[in-house]
Amino acid sequence: MISKDQFEQVVARANLAPSIHNAQPARWRLRGKVIEIAADTRVALPAADPDGRSVGLSCGAAVEATVLALSAMGLMAEVENLWDQADLHWWRGHRMVARVAMGESGVADGLAVRFDERFTWRGAFLDGSPKLFGWSRDDTALVLDVATRRWLAELNDNASLGILRNKAFRRELLSWMRLEGDHPRYDVDGLSREALRLPQQVVRKVRLGFGPMWPVLEMFGRTKALTAEADVTMSAPVLACFHRDAEESDVDAGRAYLRMLLEASGMGLMAWPMAALTDDAQAAAQIVSKLAIGPERRLVQVLRFGEPSGDRTPRARRPISELIG
Ligand SMILES: Cc1cc2nc3c(=O)[nH]c(=O)nc-3n(C[C@H](O)[C@H](O)[C@H](O)COP(=O)(O)O)c2cc1C
Repeated sequence: MISKDQFEQVVARANLAPSIHNAQPARWRLRGKVIEIAADTRVALPAADPDGRSVGLSCGAAVEATVLALSAMGLMAEVENLWDQADLHWWRGHRMVARVAMGESGVADGLAVRFDERFTWRGAFLDGSPKLFGWSRDDTALVLDVATRRWLAELNDNASLGILRNKAFRRELLSWMRLEGDHPRYDVDGLSREALRLPQQVVRKVRLGFGPMWPVLEMFGRTKALTAEADVTMSAPVLACFHRDAEESDVDAGRAYLRMLLEASGMGLMAWPMAALTDDAQAAAQIVSKLAIGPERRLVQVLRFGEPSGDRTPRARRPISELIG
């Protein structure tokens, strides 16, 4: 159906999908007319993602990215979601995510061309009112008013600080940070200093602050100053609350999540997620209540959206040899 070269092209493109901590947990293998996608169980984030939901979301984004990459080749794809079966036997060391059956002549999906534009922007956004061109989605509440954005920005800082008080979380986060250019996996995975937009001179401060100095900073009430982002959050003209049916599989939510991000990219809007607002169940409940999101919905992620005020940083991605099983 597709050659090995074409398969590798699909995988390389599909792996441009966003993933928690840029851990890139999705793996692909070709079985005749079917592409199997699974999560590598070695890529676990026990502190940031104890229930595996963020890995599920990341793999869902990778599934949708696979479908889009196939559509760009003129191929149709039919997805069978296997995530909730939690099957660990089919492919040793992996949890099955989906089977993607390929068919002849699919219709090219317009979102496929947005792949190269999308990236996570972790800095100030350009001033000015957002150009939303009437963009709306049933699963995304767009917050534009200053008071509610300020409320969310502060809630995020408080939730982040609460989560960062967990030493295991800080240690795990540091292990995914690539703060020095000579880190052996700087271009491969994790969060590079450039992607985090950390000036060289604050690298030491972050390493010490999130590491051995945390208890001291905590004692002097300095941890909030180290972690607060409300001012830069407020530079984002739009905060988006992405919510899905509470019963939906994380993989299906992840598929919709990627489409939502690509739609925004098409308008020049880049995202900077605030995972703390959903990782902290109390914060999530407050948002659902304030925005009247509805009890049958689950708040999946809250994101800052805006036009970046600078250039994108090079992508760190695993080589194809690490992605194919
Ligand atoms: C489930 C999920 C949660 C994420 N949470 C955050 C977050 O809280 N803060 C952040 O800066 N980026 C977050 N990200 C973005 C990833 O770090 C990002 O996708 C990854 O580093 C790859 O970079 P790229 O999006 O520029 O391709 C999240 C991504 C996913 C899929």
